[in-house]
Amino acid sequence: MPKKMSKLADRIHNIEESKSVRLAGILSQLRAEGRDIIGLNVGEPDFYTPKNIIEATKNALDQNMTRYSLVEGIQDLRDAIAKKASEQLTRKINSKQVFLGNGSKHILYNIFQTIINPGDEVIVPVPYWVTFPEAIKLAGGIPKFVTCPNNQLSVENIKEAITEKTKAIIINSPNNPTGAIYPKEVIEELGKLAVEKDIFIISDEAYDALVYDNMKFPSPGALSEDVFKKTLTVQSFSKSYCMTGFRIGYLIAEEEIIKNMQKLQSHLSGNNCTFAQYGALEAILSSDKIIEDMVKIMEKRRDLAYSLCEGLFEVEKPQGAFYLFPNVEKYLNEQMPNDEILAEKLLKETGVAILPGAYFGAPGFIRICFATNEEQITEGMKRIRTFLCK
Ligand SMILES: Cc1ncc(COP(=O)(O)O)c(C=O)c1O
Repeated sequence: MPKKMSKLADRIHNIEESKSVRLAGILSQLRAEGRDIIGLNVGEPDFYTPKNIIEATKNALDQNMTRYSLVEGIQDLRDAIAKKASEQLTRKINSKQVFLGNGSKHILYNIFQTIINPGDEVIVPVPYWVTFPEAIKLAGGIPKFVTCPNNQLSVENIKEAITEKTKAIIINSPNNPTGAIYPKEVIEELGKLAVEKDIFIISDEAYDALVYDNMKFPSPGALSEDVFKKTLTVQSFSKSYCMTGFRIGYLIAEEEIIKNMQKLQSHLSGNNCTFAQYGALEAILSSDKIIEDMVKIMEKRRDLAYSLCEGLFEVEKPQGAFYLFPNVEKYLNEQMPNDEILAEKLLKETGVAILPGAYFGAPGFIRICFATNEEQITEGMKRIRTFLCK
């Protein structure tokens, strides 16, 4: 008798694979088969990692920085992050309030494992980044979706969704998938609510550097001391420094949270790749120049992509990140009844990859990433227009 396959954990049946990551796999396969693909789907800058960061990483290897290091991150890097965070959050942050993980995705996972008991609820404004609900569920939590019209946070709707089981709310500004930045007044209102109801604000700021039109980006951690104490600020080296493959993200929070995250991570993954951390240190020390150059280019791309939507979609102009999130409902019909089928047909018929809004909890929309060169943006948008207006 063949041995019966062991039954897998409910936990794993309960979550979905990241559909955007799966699509990226399909695309590399299509490219390998020689298809002419325009990838407006992957959320990463198309630039190489800046040379000085590569050199610092190589140098760390030459210096044999290849062993285990501190679980929470090497001291020099945490000091440099604490200095930057003190400016961003307008208060003195020390290195004990800084914690490194393998990308901000890992940090988010660790946060939920650290703060969530089974059955606890976490408020997730819609649309949301695909990982939020799954990371909450992996910790036994319940994502409580809250509709937020016009790509903005509705504190009113959030208030109504709070129950005695609410542990946290997760926000993401600049936002993936909408590119929206939440205004200061709204963040202040949310901060007040979090203190009053004693819930955490998890502020995913992975796109903090990618802000356009000289806008200021309001962070809840920069509000009063009371709000700071309830806020877990999550940041990443991935997007700001073109270091997606280095896998370095970090958390700024109260020391008690950091200590407990450290306890968890000591059994999970231990430290981040040691030599990659030296690359991150160089990145943060040279950040002004790197970020300034990248933002200039991305802003031009944003303007181009947005202008190419004229007469095609209804879409808000993104204030940050590198995504457009247009409504495509007027193009849906019997042959193309929803955004997922639209995305699939678009890919098959034109070779343009985008992501359906349904992945982000917002059916009827699509996400177009403009973190690629102007030629690709122009050609991609041309093909989308021809496809939709045929
Ligand atoms: C909103 C948001 N947060 C976090 C991340 C994860 O970034 P990383 O794990 O590379 O730091 C992403 C990546 O796409 C993202 O869009």
